Amino acid sequence: MKAHGEITPPGDKSISHRAFLFGALANGTTRIKGVLESRDVMSTAKAVQSLGIEARKDHEDWVVKGGTLREPITVIDAGNSGTTARLLSGICAGIDGVTILTGDSSLVCRPMGRVITPLEKMGARFLARSGRYLPMAIQGGSLQGISYDMEIASAQVKSALLLAGLSASGTTTITEPSKSRDHTERMLAYFGAEVAVDGTTICMSPGQRLQAREITVPSDPSSAAFPAVWAAATPGSSLLIRGVCINPTRTGFLRVLERMGAHITVENIREWAGEPVGDIQVDGGVLHATTIEGEEIPTLIDEIPILVAAACLAQGRTEIRDASELRVKETDRIAAMVQGLTSLGAHVDENDDGMTIEGPVQLHSGSVRTFSDHRIAMCLHILAKAFDIDVHLDDPSCVDISYPDFFSSMETLV
Ligand code: S3P
Repeated sequence: MKAHGEITPPGDKSISHRAFLFGALANGTTRIKGVLESRDVMSTAKAVQSLGIEARKDHEDWVVKGGTLREPITVIDAGNSGTTARLLSGICAGIDGVTILTGDSSLVCRPMGRVITPLEKMGARFLARSGRYLPMAIQGGSLQGISYDMEIASAQVKSALLLAGLSASGTTTITEPSKSRDHTERMLAYFGAEVAVDGTTICMSPGQRLQAREITVPSDPSSAAFPAVWAAATPGSSLLIRGVCINPTRTGFLRVLERMGAHITVENIREWAGEPVGDIQVDGGVLHATTIEGEEIPTLIDEIPILVAAACLAQGRTEIRDASELRVKETDRIAAMVQGLTSLGAHVDENDDGMTIEGPVQLHSGSVRTFSDHRIAMCLHILAKAFDIDVHLDDPSCVDISYPDFFSSMETLV
């Protein structure tokens, strides 16, 4: 089935989380327009409220009154959101007192050692289940800046350390193995902090005060990727996706689709709150297989499931490598995609750090497990649309995590 028309996907999830957190830390009142009102982002909104910050809806916008964060009197539940848990760990490491963090059945299985280790080096103390999982208690207080070489490219870890660094004495210097999404660095600069970025090294001096600003959140490229792949891989489609964040650390999937032969143009480029924004026109055609690996992976980590779907429609063998981080997302996304696609008739092989997909193949109707992972659910639904088959999802409601009106939005494109 072809995709036709225009769509404005909901606000960017990463930027929405950060808008609440930066608003809480800044001097003054931050007004946020276009917040993604999804389950994940609301976990962050509730968390800043638990830290004594006023964050409330004002007509269509949200307003956050920055102030002094205080030790919470209740356990903070980050729900399904790794970004909430990890970024908040960095903030709470700097709060005098004890914060207890937990999450849902998926989040309590995701690794927290990656933030615990460097935050302990900065002076915070942690008591975590098995040493590295939620629930965990953070004893925060005065922190010391550190120089830290990250083992994995993770924006959540980098952001946790930068947020901790804001309240630390001494300089914080972080080096990533390759560049992950840089919304935190951009928002720090937008809120008036000085951050020096040199390739994959970020350096921030102590004593920086953030000044509240107005933020307009662009559409999430990770959400845009679902209809974009549907349109790109079905000849005769024509789709305009408006107001999308086109930060290069997020748009690896567009470069991959172009390499596969997709017809994509980005128009009307502008800037909102330090982030580049554009309208993306996608015209359908025949796609060809590609290899996705190395430094490209962090720029499209959340889009790999939908690129795997594109590979089922493309001619030839697509290889995905160096993507073992997929195994520690909301679910093991390599295993979940292989299971779902195989049950629909796709030719997919599982590797430790990726997948091999043979295309094109005609998928058939069937029932699939989402593992309550929003991106797996949306990806399998897009395959249903593109192949014009019936795919029954066991838990369609999990799309609330990042794209609450996903199913009705997709219906407008038929
Ligand atoms: C995010 C960073 C990425 C991404 C996640 C959101 C962020 O996670 O997968 O959906 O907002 O910083 P990692 O830092 O674990 O790579």
